[in-house]
Amino acid sequence: MNNTKTAVVVIPTYNEAEVIGDMIDHLFGKVFPKIPNWQIHLLIVDDTSPDGTYKIVEKKQKQYPNLHLYLNKEKMGIGWAYVVGFRYAIKQLKADVLIEFDADFQHPPKDIPILLAKIDEGYDYVLGSRKIEGGLNPKGWGFKRVFFSEVGGLVARLVLFFPGKSFFKITDPTTGLKASRVEGFVDQIDMDNLYSYKFGYKLEFLYRMVTLGAKVAEIPLRFGLRTKGESKISSNTAKDIFRTVSLLRWHDPATQSFLKFGVVGFAGYLVNAISLAIFSRSGWAEWLAWLFSTELAIISNFTWNNLWTFVDKKFTRTIDLIKKFVQFNLTSAGALIIQTVTGTLLTSFFGPQYRQIYLPLIIVFLVLPYNWLMYNKIIWKIKKT
Ligand code: GDD
Ligand code: MN
Repeated sequence: MNNTKTAVVVIPTYNEAEVIGDMIDHLFGKVFPKIPNWQIHLLIVDDTSPDGTYKIVEKKQKQYPNLHLYLNKEKMGIGWAYVVGFRYAIKQLKADVLIEFDADFQHPPKDIPILLAKIDEGYDYVLGSRKIEGGLNPKGWGFKRVFFSEVGGLVARLVLFFPGKSFFKITDPTTGLKASRVEGFVDQIDMDNLYSYKFGYKLEFLYRMVTLGAKVAEIPLRFGLRTKGESKISSNTAKDIFRTVSLLRWHDPATQSFLKFGVVGFAGYLVNAISLAIFSRSGWAEWLAWLFSTELAIISNFTWNNLWTFVDKKFTRTIDLIKKFVQFNLTSAGALIIQTVTGTLLTSFFGPQYRQIYLPLIIVFLVLPYNWLMYNKIIWKIKKT
């Protein structure tokens, strides 16, 4: 029985005639033979480069049976090249693992066995990072490219993941050197509906893999200088990346619930304020007016969060409703205590004249995070099956 697994190295090319021949020879001659327990294919996805890159690949195919060429009729962008390349690799070549690689030797070929070793260790997604110890950007980069790489990377991480744990774990989100497990991961990604088929696709795959629960490892990447040919990154690349991460974060189910949670909370505040006015004007005892108006707000929050904010986790059985409603009142009491204690403390330290400043600060920095946490971790927690 043969249980070697298949890895497909995918290299998209556009006008890489100066380097592609050397890269192919180097990979088949020096790198692949040193990876014994994997069956390795190399797939070049070329957009019918005007400089004839694909013709060089066709020639080399006579020499290397595991060399494949996928030719797009026109320039479709790097993301599209990977989409068609991945599909081909999965269907025709039965890939278990896909490796994203550049033609221009900026990714050190000796990193390929390291990526696969991490996959062998059980990781699902291995990323080359310039930001961890042992990794770096080329010394020769000008200020502009360094700036875009540093700030762009940080913004991409913030927009995609903050304050989740991936924000801290993934140090180089725009990296182009990656290995991805197919089963359960790449085969779950809807590649027909990406937000970007240009450089932004990198962030989109990153986001999807992480959301699918991939076990992520980073290896140091010493990103080289390009010595031949030209970078295809353009001034639109930063825009495309920013647009892609913004769309991903906006459509993230957690973002959508968070916005609804804000709307529901604000509605709860209005219920509280209006009913307080009505009750006190109707001559109710002060404490009774506060008690009932607060409880009405709690009921409003509970109901709308259940029907709207957390609609995909909503409970309907009477017994659950009762149990959860009691819990909800308890966590709401917690919020009340937080607000009362910090409000009183702040007033005694800095004086009552800033009261109207303390309140929104306490709400935004303490009560909102507290409620959000309680709702997600206790009230509308989905049971792991
Ligand atoms: N088929 C195809 N179509 N290939 C393309 C296209 C395209 O439209 N655009 C770029 N490529 C190929 C290039 O020929 C090269 O093999 C690879 O994609 C990377 O392109 P480069 O032009 O070398 O990108 P870079 O070096 O500026 O950018 C690198 O760093 C980025 C992070 O800063 C790459 O590794 C990127 O993948 C990475 O995101
Ligand atoms: Mn490059």
